[in-house]
Amino acid sequence: MEAGKFITLEGGEGAGKTTQAVRIKDALAEANIEAVLTREPGGTFGAEAIRDLVLSGTHERWSGMTELLLMYAARLDHMDKLIKPALERGAWVICDRFSDSSMAYQGYARGLGQERVRAVHDTVMEGFAPDLTILFDIDPILALKRVQTRGEDLSRFDTEGLAFHKTLREGFLEIARADPKRVKLIDATSSRDAIATQIKHLLMTQFAGLRLG
Ligand code: TYD
Repeated sequence: MEAGKFITLEGGEGAGKTTQAVRIKDALAEANIEAVLTREPGGTFGAEAIRDLVLSGTHERWSGMTELLLMYAARLDHMDKLIKPALERGAWVICDRFSDSSMAYQGYARGLGQERVRAVHDTVMEGFAPDLTILFDIDPILALKRVQTRGEDLSRFDTEGLAFHKTLREGFLEIARADPKRVKLIDATSSRDAIATQIKHLLMTQFAGLRLG
């Protein structure tokens, strides 16, 4: 049995990742590929409990390093109990955010620095990485407007200032520049349908033999 592929979706707030995650799953289902949709922080019972801890309260609640460790504690549980077993049985896994979010949010935007994030990352991940990461890039001013007009409950991350979101975007773009084989950029200001089409092409280019309608 061939192992499944691991696809992660990354980007700032309000970039439309979640909608596209569902569309990827549907496109794969049409091609008779089992796909598991999941998210971070979260995805398993234990990791969802950590998510509640880390996303509630004010942004002074946790230091950057505590936040980072909580994210990786959740990630380890998620990888061991959900992601790796699914890939091993041949399912594809689509994850709404993964470790690039830790580098961009904790490493860049919260100012922990790349070295400290990388040290924790390397210890926990032991070389495990996505086969493909789709980075949804959007100007943070536009993205925040989207989040607000959707009338969503603003998580504590959404209430960070604009400077935070600008640094975040730069962080994600640097990650993409450093790892262009894995990380592919999508212009998140395009329409939903245009983005979905672009993603299908991306998947077919990245994974030889994959045919999507
Ligand atoms: P969520 O409501 O899922 O945000 P979004 O819809 O934008 O994906 O909340 C997840 C929040 O957690 C989001 O603000 C990004 C943040 N986060 C980190 O700071 N570090 C991480 O490693 C991960 C996975 C998420």
